[in-house]
Amino acid sequence: MYNEIDLDRIDLSAEIPSVEPERQYYFMRCIRDFVRKEEQKLGRKLTACVVTFGCQMNARDSEKLIGILQKTGYELSEDENSDLVLYKTCTVRDNANQKVYGRLGVLNGYKKKNPNMRVVLCGCMTQEEKVVQKLRESYSFVDLVFGTHNLYCFAELLYKMYGNKEMVVDIRKEADRIVEELPVKRKYPFKSGINIMFGCNNFCSYCIVPYVRGRERSRESEDIINEIKGLVKDGVVEIMLLGQNVNSYGKNLENGITFAQLLKKVDAIDGLKRIRFMTSHPKDLSDDLIEAIASSTKICRHLHLPLQSGSDRILKEMNRHYTRQQYLELAQKIRERIPDIAITTDIIVGFPGETPEDVDQTIDMIKKVRYDNAFTFIYSPRTGTPAAAMQQVSEEQVHEQFDRVLKCVQETARESIARYEGQIMEALAEEQNQGENSSKVLKELGASDGEVLLTGRLSNNTIVHFPGREEQIGTLIPVELLQCHGFYYIGRTVN
Ligand code: 5AD
Ligand code: SF4
Repeated sequence: MYNEIDLDRIDLSAEIPSVEPERQYYFMRCIRDFVRKEEQKLGRKLTACVVTFGCQMNARDSEKLIGILQKTGYELSEDENSDLVLYKTCTVRDNANQKVYGRLGVLNGYKKKNPNMRVVLCGCMTQEEKVVQKLRESYSFVDLVFGTHNLYCFAELLYKMYGNKEMVVDIRKEADRIVEELPVKRKYPFKSGINIMFGCNNFCSYCIVPYVRGRERSRESEDIINEIKGLVKDGVVEIMLLGQNVNSYGKNLENGITFAQLLKKVDAIDGLKRIRFMTSHPKDLSDDLIEAIASSTKICRHLHLPLQSGSDRILKEMNRHYTRQQYLELAQKIRERIPDIAITTDIIVGFPGETPEDVDQTIDMIKKVRYDNAFTFIYSPRTGTPAAAMQQVSEEQVHEQFDRVLKCVQETARESIARYEGQIMEALAEEQNQGENSSKVLKELGASDGEVLLTGRLSNNTIVHFPGREEQIGTLIPVELLQCHGFYYIGRTVN
């Protein structure tokens, strides 16, 4: 699918290429030779473990980093006691940072016992200056630190790391380019995320993303379409188009393509069965996009539409550029045009200056929109964002309000999801359910010998567990939704 370069054909005696991706393949070859030598010396494989924190974007980034590690001969492992450990970090809330610091302490212990071990930190967290400073001061055993803009240089940075005793740090303020055609190792053979754009220009006042991921940059539509066609040839049936705000797709491109137009092109790809996308900002979700979803049989019946707050005053302070009324009208318009769509959202509780009355407004919106699911977050001040300098709400009040919102979200979601009971819907079987209860459920449903409990995802993103055969993983199967258990269903396949 990609025009991957064969590492054996690279001439290491030639000058280091200055163009990409050739330059990175040159360094991949250097690393591969190094890995082979180490293996001979140690009499065993060199292992690498990649741990991903945060969002779908990070998960996709990790697939690219793993692609490079695999190409250079590392044996991938889930065990953090490996020769190379890489953390793909998130910094959207402070608890993500704290988790990383905690786990670094454990890695230090492993490293003392294995002098070959190397620790790499990359992603959003390392784009923060104070983080790099802290790493230098208190976590000097970390070997390589790089950010979000030079992921494509991973092979080159690894090479530099192995040649240096000191911590190698390479953080760039902005991305200079988008490099295509590097190796990728997908987590699932049958589904994949695809970056359609990087960065964000919205500067919501609580959010650190524009500072750590930089300004919006869209990929050329031909590159996206070619990548998807390649994936489909490789067995992918479901894709998720990824961007911080997909509605701004194309704004910096010369051909002036919109997200709705891109979706139409993706929709026309033969063999592709399902299309998802994430995330849509409510301020600029166009009628064309609603039409594109409504008229497609491939675009999934799920829209993630972050509300953040139901209070006009707070929305203004958050710099969200819509009012509760505008959001409500948008949600109604979408539900009228696409009645079977599931709408999910993100909500922040405890934004500076938020009162219990503001939270009442949020709860009112949850009830009115009838979300299928909502992710609720406690506001976390992020250094450098405007909201961090505002008057903060007391911890006690935040927790009280958070519990109220969570209760409402759970009740609404339960009711919303229960409305599918008895229906037959197509599920993409994603994996075998290994949970403690799986054999009990199989027994109750009268599953036949050789059947396992499969976990599938409906077009509306709801999870369903049902008896089936392992070979069915990666295929679309009609499933009758028998029992609703809050956020998921138990079902059975129908012919
Ligand atoms: N504190 C809490 N939640 C946040 N989010 C973004 N920034 C913050 C913050 N500082 C949430 C938003 C966003 C989701 C990905 O994370 O709800 O939609
Ligand atoms: Fe953050 Fe707002 Fe951009 Fe989303 S749209 S990434 S919340 S700044």
